[in-house]
Amino acid sequence: MKDPTRLYNRRNFLRLGFYGSGAGMFGYGSLIERRTPRIERVTCPLPARHAGLDGLKIAVMSDFHHDEFHDDTLIGGAVETMNSLKPDVVFFPGDFISRDVSGMDALVGHFQKIEARVGAFACLGNHDQWNAPKGVAKRLEQGGVSVLKNAATELRAPRTGERFVLAGLESAWSGDPDLAKTLRGMNGDVPVLLGWHEPDPFDTITDGRVLLQMAGHTHGGQVCAPFYGAIRLPQYGRKYVAGLYGDERARLYVTRGIGSMGVPVRFCCPPEISLVTLRAKTGDEDANRA
Ligand SMILES: [Fe+2]
Repeated sequence: MKDPTRLYNRRNFLRLGFYGSGAGMFGYGSLIERRTPRIERVTCPLPARHAGLDGLKIAVMSDFHHDEFHDDTLIGGAVETMNSLKPDVVFFPGDFISRDVSGMDALVGHFQKIEARVGAFACLGNHDQWNAPKGVAKRLEQGGVSVLKNAATELRAPRTGERFVLAGLESAWSGDPDLAKTLRGMNGDVPVLLGWHEPDPFDTITDGRVLLQMAGHTHGGQVCAPFYGAIRLPQYGRKYVAGLYGDERARLYVTRGIGSMGVPVRFCCPPEISLVTLRAKTGDEDANRA
């Protein structure tokens, strides 16, 4: 007959190990990984016809949710890091808040320190649009960030003078995005860089002027399992989770974002500051392929 005391002790030991490792992972994800952003340097290949945008640098940061688990040390440091990357354009693809604008003044205080040669721009995310679209947009504009809400503006690359359109759409989940209306009146030959919070609607873009969509929304899953990936993903963010997608026709970049939502934890999915550099193919690269 088995000694019940031994069985009891073994069970307790296993239970203790299970809860202990769970608490350890939560502590690591909450205190360390969530507060340790990674710089992702991404090269976005340009079609030959838009080689004039070669070298344009766009810093992307999204999904702040700054009212929920706001961390001013994290955001302050992230803005300093962005400045050190010397971007031409800064773009924020939305979700500045989760529920209300209580964190917006602090967030905008950090944004006022942004240094970008062309400027800082944003589109709104599903949470911004659901909860306080006017309040979020007003505060961003006060902080020097231009909000593109189904709107577009023509700009020039600072080194080459090449023209490009920067456009922003309303959230696919909570807004009324209208790309045709947004680009109406824009020069037909000028390439478009598009901010659109949710990544999966990338498949619906048929306008050949769109060179690149910049999206967030997924948080990269926020909590991921090793060798498996994201455990849970939101609507409109289940196909394109994180990274660069697309082909010569158009590209999509999805950032994991900087903040957290739901639980103050990131695991196997660190916060991200992205630097997307547009790069034309060189003659050498063509020769290498031949
Ligand atoms: Fe979102």
